[in-house]
Amino acid sequence: MDLRQVKTSEADFGLLSYDPSFQNTAPCRSAITYIDGDAGVLRYRGYPIEELAGRKSYLEVSYLLIYGHLPRPNELAEWLHNITYHTMVHENVKKFMDGFHHDAHPMGMVVSTLAALSTFYPEAKQVHDEGSRERQIHRLVAKIPTIAAFSYRHSVGMSYIYPDNDLSYTANFLAMMYRPSWTAHYTPNPVLTQALDTLFVLHADHEQNCSTSTMRMVGSSLADPYVSAAAAAAALYGPLHGGANEQVVRMLQEVGSKDKVPALIRQVKSGKRRLMGFGHRVYKNYDPRARIIKEAADSVFAVTARNRLIDIALALERTALSDDYFIKRRLYPNVDFYSGIIYQAMGFPMDIFPVLFAIPRMSGWLAHWQEMMMDEEQKIARPRQVYIGPGERHLPEPTAEKS
Ligand code: ACO
Repeated sequence: MDLRQVKTSEADFGLLSYDPSFQNTAPCRSAITYIDGDAGVLRYRGYPIEELAGRKSYLEVSYLLIYGHLPRPNELAEWLHNITYHTMVHENVKKFMDGFHHDAHPMGMVVSTLAALSTFYPEAKQVHDEGSRERQIHRLVAKIPTIAAFSYRHSVGMSYIYPDNDLSYTANFLAMMYRPSWTAHYTPNPVLTQALDTLFVLHADHEQNCSTSTMRMVGSSLADPYVSAAAAAAALYGPLHGGANEQVVRMLQEVGSKDKVPALIRQVKSGKRRLMGFGHRVYKNYDPRARIIKEAADSVFAVTARNRLIDIALALERTALSDDYFIKRRLYPNVDFYSGIIYQAMGFPMDIFPVLFAIPRMSGWLAHWQEMMMDEEQKIARPRQVYIGPGERHLPEPTAEKS
């Protein structure tokens, strides 16, 4: 705001920064996630992502993001209890979801159902009450896998499977997705459960990305966290954000074989299309999450059949990383380049990919929402604009009414 004192005259508005898409504007100070895009570094609360992935469960990482430290044993037990306790949804949520058309996109259902939760928990409006905030955090982290799995079951015309609180967070999600309705128990494959849990850790937060900024933006008006999270999920839905991994799989399927890779690269270089899963606003180096996912792929393929798309993806990466176009623009694979291939091998249909992203990103959204609510420097978000429309003009004088 000090810049506004720089004026050419008293009547002048003062200096204002014009920064479309906020490429060089920090709207907050945050202590949650650190990224050094040039060096390819990602840390949650100071811990390198490479140390957390595979060594800490998603729920431990979720606690870390939200509370700022890794949970001590008693804190973890209480956190697990609270999350497990809130996994069920009100029966009316189920009825609400039943109202969607039979071929509704699961992400559209998730966005709408998150918003609908606001009507079930009116006390969530007490955003300045710390206890109330904490209850909504428990509910949102706990219920998002249930809503996600229900959205999938609805989209394929299968009955909903209620949460099994004897299972871990990630195993329970897989059970709600895939348990046949005629069996009482279903234990998902532990290797796939572990791989998905690691993917959840990698997707849990990424500082001021489009969806998290949306969570902060909507939350800054003191809207409750359910509608704020619904808005964040809507932002995540777009193909340039959480929808990119679906586009990657479609692109690889279209390419079909390794020998067609050079033709695709030519199309990209001529500006006809983008290489999906490549490039990042912040990373101008290899996305560290992509490297971990690439390594996790082999453990998944040892259980499932090898997804032949991985060979096309590897060939594409090799070709792109040795091509001047990509080198000059510092375009590297991002988190979405390999995640879709693994999800597909695990049997997830493509429509559910953005939903798989929304489940863990809920922790990041809530950590940022909580941080914003406690930040005395924050006010309602309200950017300025540079007006480029017409100057003042007037309607024609009204003509005398005909008698
Ligand atoms: N393929 C080909 N060229 C690209 C790509 C790409 N994937 N990404 C960027 N470029 C080029 C642009 O054409 C531009 O070239 P130019 O300078 O000759 O005009 C240059 O690289 C800079 O690109 P910008 O669009 O300015 O970069 P920006 O930071 O705005 O975009 C984004 C980042 C949206 C991620 C972009 O790289 C992209 O569209 N990638 C594909 C979609 C994708 O994978 N999204 C997932 C992001 S990760 C996530 O959300 C979890």
